[in-house]
Amino acid sequence: KRKGFIFDLDGVIVDTAKYHFLAWQKLANSIGVDFTKEQNEQLKGVSRVKSLQKILDWGNITLETEEFNNLMSKKNEDYLQHIKKMDASEILPDVPRILELLETENQGIALGSASKNAEVILQKVNLIQKFSAIIDGNGVTKGKPDPEVFLNAANALSIAPEDCIVFEDATAGIKAANAANMISIGIGDASILHEADYVFTDFTEISSDFIQELIKK
Ligand code: BG6
Ligand code: MG
Repeated sequence: KRKGFIFDLDGVIVDTAKYHFLAWQKLANSIGVDFTKEQNEQLKGVSRVKSLQKILDWGNITLETEEFNNLMSKKNEDYLQHIKKMDASEILPDVPRILELLETENQGIALGSASKNAEVILQKVNLIQKFSAIIDGNGVTKGKPDPEVFLNAANALSIAPEDCIVFEDATAGIKAANAANMISIGIGDASILHEADYVFTDFTEISSDFIQELIKK
């Protein structure tokens, strides 16, 4: 059967989660707000606007729109400095193996990301041609945990949501996949991603047999 396999980008295909962390930490500290790994976890999968809003809330800071937007572009400029240096070596382990397997099996492959930088990153790591649909931060009105991004991806693949499987590293993304009625696969820490249907530390733990089972289901 032809299923839809929808991949989150940051922290699933590439290790850009660490660059988001560095850029947000720098920004938070510059306005006198502490920024820990635990707080960072709450920003994963969350849009740029919502992320800055959360940081300001943690610091009890309110800003005029103009200043808010300035900080947002500052964070993104900083983030893009890291992205600029990226190449295919930053693709996470065994992602190419899984993509090739899905391709061989003639499965639908889509991206479902909150990022507005998704296409740039996929181009840098030379994976853009693997995706028959790309739904990113420019293609949604409601961010994760809302299911919109994944429903749009299913729609773009012309595959029913219940025939889709989502790979996600963020709690917000797992919630979105579950709300979309899709199979959710967490990539990362099982104690954080406990709402997922399955959790693997990374793609090296995902066997071809497991993928074949998902296709047959
Ligand atoms: C998500 C990341 O994929 O994209 C978040 O997990 C990030 O950390 C969000 O804030 C938006 O990304 P960008 O690249 O548009 O700022
Ligand atoms: Mg992610």
